[in-house]
Amino acid sequence: MSASLLNFFFALFLLQTRTAVAQTTNSSIVSIPYEYTYLLPGGFTGNLNQTFANSTRTGNATIDNPLSSASKAPFISYDDAFLRILGSNPQPKLIHERDTLFAYEAGLWVPERNEVWFTSAIEQGMQIPTHVNVLNLGTNTVYALNGTSQPVTNPNGGYYFEGKVYFATFPSNGTYRGGVISVDAQTLEVETVVNNYFGLSFSSVDDITWARQGNDRYMFFTDFYYNYEAYADLPTPGLPAGVWRWDPQEQVLLQVISRNEIFPNGVRVSPDMRTLYVTESFGTAQAAAPYTPQAGPSAASWYGPYIYKYDLDAEMFPVNCRQFGLVREGIADGIHVDDAGNVWTGESEGIVVRNPKGKVIGVFNAQYFLEDKQADALPIANFALAGDTLAVQATTRLWTVKLGKTVVSSGSSIVN
Ligand SMILES: *[C@@H]1O[C@H](CO)[C@@H](O)[C@H](O)[C@H]1NC(C)=O
Ligand SMILES: *[C@@H]1O[C@H](CO)[C@@H](O)[C@H](O)[C@H]1NC(C)=O
Ligand SMILES: *[C@@H]1O[C@H](CO)[C@@H](O)[C@H](O)[C@H]1NC(C)=O
Ligand SMILES: *[C@@H]1O[C@H](CO)[C@@H](O)[C@H](O)[C@H]1NC(C)=O
Ligand SMILES: *[C@@H]1O[C@H](CO)[C@@H](O)[C@H](O)[C@H]1NC(C)=O
Ligand SMILES: *[C@@H]1O[C@H](CO)[C@@H](O)[C@H](O)[C@H]1NC(C)=O
Repeated sequence: MSASLLNFFFALFLLQTRTAVAQTTNSSIVSIPYEYTYLLPGGFTGNLNQTFANSTRTGNATIDNPLSSASKAPFISYDDAFLRILGSNPQPKLIHERDTLFAYEAGLWVPERNEVWFTSAIEQGMQIPTHVNVLNLGTNTVYALNGTSQPVTNPNGGYYFEGKVYFATFPSNGTYRGGVISVDAQTLEVETVVNNYFGLSFSSVDDITWARQGNDRYMFFTDFYYNYEAYADLPTPGLPAGVWRWDPQEQVLLQVISRNEIFPNGVRVSPDMRTLYVTESFGTAQAAAPYTPQAGPSAASWYGPYIYKYDLDAEMFPVNCRQFGLVREGIADGIHVDDAGNVWTGESEGIVVRNPKGKVIGVFNAQYFLEDKQADALPIANFALAGDTLAVQATTRLWTVKLGKTVVSSGSSIVN
């Protein structure tokens, strides 16, 4: 999803005056006692428009100094489990840089090609239609995906599943309808999977995941109106925002989570296929008037700063919605789950990793990977988990981080 209003309040918070933070250490990993996230000396200050590490101050140097160091470090750890993911010497490596927003959405590993595929930002869609870019992990080169049997039009989120890459695509005018397409990872054959519900177009399909139950397969995808941020003169959506499920066995397409419950964004399943995670884009109030967004920070509920967790029941329907994560700054946009069941989300603070109980165990710090350019740019929306490599899609920059362990294996049920 895009977030043009984020630009607006990022620009505003730049205007605020604040005390410069003294930077004395340059350790790439800074550990913060988890206790600080819920217990601080009275009189502390914090600002929801800045990161926890950057804006939280107590006047007690024992607490403030590590927070200050963390605010500029690439890796902020709250738990030993995160240190084990990082290993002893994680190296952020800047792979590629452009002056366009070439690295923003999707983010998926194609193991048989040793590649990460990702998409450019819709914010520049009027000038540069969104397209798929490829990182070759062997050579660290980046190029535009080419050689597909048909053009991949207006891609956004994506998912690798059983040898095919699925892309969410959005309408940009009254002619191209969008929907879900697949690209065969070997032949690059393109097929349309779904593009309508009884003749009605989706608004803007945003993200996709696949779940298995025995021999059956189910595709879940999110749809909500976000393309209006880049394109004028779109037809008014005919379908409500929500989470859809495609059942290829029965050829049944159903909306399984309604707009009354959620304005969905990213979607992923857990490795045991029993849990569906969905991130939210807009406050629930938005559902009543979905096409007239109001400005304001997350606390004022323009954005829905939530990660929801659903059980997948015996019939593979999402049930028992509960809140899994409350996002501190901005929204959770892209979401990935690793083989250990940890949930990784792209937020304004950076890539935030929660364990399966919802504890924040660490952050890949946006302030480092965006090099403070976020003030006039977009946040990190998405990223890819490729074996033991994290690809950070920092809008105009693509980074990799070699992790201390394989977080998603090539044989995983959720290469994603
Ligand atoms: C955060 O940003 C919003 C929008 O720019 C602004 O209205 C609000 O006052 C800011 N909040 C704080 C605590 O600075
Ligand atoms: C500080 O740490 C970063 C990240 O590890 C590294 O890229 C940079 O070279 C270091 N700078 C200095 C002056 O040591
Ligand atoms: C952190 O604080 C510095 C200086 O106060 C500011 O320039 C920067 O934009 C802040 N970054 C974030 C991510 O809040
Ligand atoms: C500062 O915080 C530390 C860690 O919580 C605590 O041990 C220490 O007593 C505090 N110092 C003061 C002066 O309150
Ligand atoms: C097309 O793909 C090949 C790799 O298959 C790459 O080497 C080449 O640079 C790409 N072309 C463009 C125009 O991006
Ligand atoms: C509509 O958008 C599609 C995809 O971007 C493009 O191929 C087509 O030319 C556009 N049609 C018109 C009438 O602008």
